[in-house]
Amino acid sequence: MPADFFADISDKGTPPNFFFFDGTTWQGSTTGKTVSVISPIDNTLVGTLPMVSHEEIDRVLATAKLAQPLWEAVPLNKRVGIMHLAADWIRHLQDYLIALLIREVGKSADEAKGEIVRTADLIDYFADEAQSMRGMTLDSDNFPGFEKGRIAVIERVPYGTVLAIAPFNYPVNLTASKIAPALLMGNSVVVKPPTQGGISATHLVRIFEKAGVPAGVITTLTGTGEVIGEYLVPHKDVSMVAFTGNSDTGIGIAGKAAMKPLLFECGGNNPVVVMPDADFAVTVREIIKGAFAYSGQRCTGIKYVLTTPAIREQLVSMLLKTLPEMVHPGDPRSPETKLVGPVISEAAAIRIEEAITTSVKNGAKLVCGGKRTNAMIEPTVLTGVIPSMPIIAKETFGPVVSFVDVSSFDEAVTIINNSSYGLQASIFTKDEGTGLVFAKRLNVGSVQINGSPQRGPDHFPFLGVKHSGVGVQGVRYSLEAVSRLRPVVLNKPQ
Ligand code: G3P
Repeated sequence: MPADFFADISDKGTPPNFFFFDGTTWQGSTTGKTVSVISPIDNTLVGTLPMVSHEEIDRVLATAKLAQPLWEAVPLNKRVGIMHLAADWIRHLQDYLIALLIREVGKSADEAKGEIVRTADLIDYFADEAQSMRGMTLDSDNFPGFEKGRIAVIERVPYGTVLAIAPFNYPVNLTASKIAPALLMGNSVVVKPPTQGGISATHLVRIFEKAGVPAGVITTLTGTGEVIGEYLVPHKDVSMVAFTGNSDTGIGIAGKAAMKPLLFECGGNNPVVVMPDADFAVTVREIIKGAFAYSGQRCTGIKYVLTTPAIREQLVSMLLKTLPEMVHPGDPRSPETKLVGPVISEAAAIRIEEAITTSVKNGAKLVCGGKRTNAMIEPTVLTGVIPSMPIIAKETFGPVVSFVDVSSFDEAVTIINNSSYGLQASIFTKDEGTGLVFAKRLNVGSVQINGSPQRGPDHFPFLGVKHSGVGVQGVRYSLEAVSRLRPVVLNKPQ
């Protein structure tokens, strides 16, 4: 069944060479150039993605621009129906999509299933929520000095063509979280998938197509960010950019996007503050889950823990006792494996290893882990870390947690607010009042009290500040972010 469903997006050759959808047909690229997708698990070739040319980009964007008003004219109830069908197809094809995700980005079976199921639920939720998006009217006489006679009829309208750029760590979920709201609000969408994860994302686009999104309204443009991103982002036919990925790339894209509306979720360097009255047993489990889930490759992953030396000693000894129960590093295909598998590539693993080694050279203490084997990094705990050390100065996308000693609550707040990152922070304390005070003092997107940082549930607002993002995601917020208000003022002649 899945093979037939996806019959026309790859040539079934060995390796399977995937096509890009140019708005009318799935085809290889005239460049004949491809990028290879290598499984981080066993270095085998999952498949190749075409590297599209600038001419093909121009053609696809011109098609998307032409198709957009036709799509916008499709009644919302029809667009909603197509979204629900896409969600049902995902559920129908879930085993196939899960197996592909495990192989392509090295997720464990549980994590891959979690992503696929979450994506289907997310698309359904977007579809339902879109039906409650209302326009409004405003009367002129509400404002001092104005008489009756002017009525603003305020609608929400699409931007046009949304460029959706998704990350490797959620190639299906964080592609759908951009495609669904953009389509529901009447935009065309051009998807620039990550290379690693691009095959899974291409399958997702095929599902939206088969669910009824007309030709030209949704397209994939594959190739490396350096080559096609540079051309795509400033392109005159791209109206808005929705991006998830690391902060440096985000800053680069924002610079090229000029005045275009942006919806960005970038890197996180998420701290945890542990207060003396915290439940240490709960705290330790949340730290392990938050730091090591999907081998630490989550922008909401826990990167460092701020607390006093005395509490740190207790936490670290409890953590070392609990770690073997919650973390079993290994091949993500094995049911034995828990939380830690290979990171996305050997190159990424080498970067993590270097950040650990350099931080230890600068005085950090390696409590456990630190070793690398190909793309595998052992679950690593460091103490005696200070903010200037590479392991926490830059977002480390790996299975590493660092402890930073502080002497006061104020010092912890200062360290967090001095960071160029601002996605999430957590505080563990029995006194929620203290938690609220903490939250009000922090310059981060969201604060978790007695829980590890995370995106979701997906109707909650999800945002980053500083280098961690622009705009707000979360179902309703995303629907608003991919559309704009258009007031039409009816002026009654005086
Ligand atoms: O981009 C968000 C992602 O990296 C983290 O999402 O759901 O694992 O908290 P989540």
